[in-house]
Amino acid sequence: MALVTGAGSGIGQVTAVELARRGVRAIALADIQQSGLDETKTFVAREGAEVLAEVVDVSNVEQISRFFALTERRLGCPDIIHNNAGTICGEPIWPESPLEKMTQVVSVNLLGIIYGNRIGIEMMSKNGGGVIINTASTAALGPMPTDPIYAGTKAAVVNLTQSCAGLLQSHNIRVNAVLPGMVATPFIEKTGDGEQPAAWLKPILGQIPMLSADQIAEGIIQLVLDQSSAGACLVIENPTKPGGPPLKTLLPDAKSFYRYQLSR
Ligand SMILES: NC(=O)c1ccc[n+]([C@@H]2O[C@H](COP(=O)([O-])OP(=O)(O)OC[C@H]3O[C@@H](n4cnc5c(N)ncnc54)[C@H](O)[C@@H]3O)[C@@H](O)[C@H]2O)c1
Repeated sequence: MALVTGAGSGIGQVTAVELARRGVRAIALADIQQSGLDETKTFVAREGAEVLAEVVDVSNVEQISRFFALTERRLGCPDIIHNNAGTICGEPIWPESPLEKMTQVVSVNLLGIIYGNRIGIEMMSKNGGGVIINTASTAALGPMPTDPIYAGTKAAVVNLTQSCAGLLQSHNIRVNAVLPGMVATPFIEKTGDGEQPAAWLKPILGQIPMLSADQIAEGIIQLVLDQSSAGACLVIENPTKPGGPPLKTLLPDAKSFYRYQLSR
């Protein structure tokens, strides 16, 4: 069975539906918004999977712990976990970003992912293992002057994922990450005042052919199915031409460093 956070919209919604379409028999969905959850629940159920859908704030340790425990009780231990919920500072941009918003971004994008990994790893280790996919971003790969807080949380998710590579040997758990470029979801559309894209983003949006949530879900399924992937970070960049294929690459891993770390 699978567990998906941020499942009420965009990448999380499409991934949950795709997992059901490919035969995952039960899926637990978490999101902070009821309306999106209801929609995803309907789509997933239509594909024949049993569904548990709960309003959960992933940055709240009690709520996310309760959700994982409820999932285990109702549907069993997940074999697949997609830690996906995320948010962005939006406007006003750095360094004027409000402190509350920055705290929320760090809490959701980093603490939420840490909780999902920590609780998921503990649960999966007792049940023979599984695969965890964390949603990071290409923002992790370089400076982002408009929102270094967002970029910093995503860079930390990449490091966390790579640091978990050794869990394949010790716990039969594969932790991987997907790093999407710009994807046409409400996330992008609401980076400004909550209704439209941020002013800094608008000119870029006109120039870059956007990725679709389906293309990201396809990358996520690839990481789920590839039994050899552990600590893998799949970058999915925007196509160079409209209608072109996404550009997929794996981040190189620091093999010598891992060897030393893993042999401790
Ligand atoms: N859209 C992009 O261009 C893009 C690019 C790179 C990475 N990402 C990442 O992809 C992930 C999904 O984003 P998306 O594009 O599908 O956006 P989206 O806005 O369509 O979906 C995000 C979902 O997360 C939920 N969410 C937000 N805070 C939450 C919380 N505290 N607890 C539980 N759920 C919460 C939202 O309600 C929403 O349903 C995010 O982590 C985002 O950072 C998006």
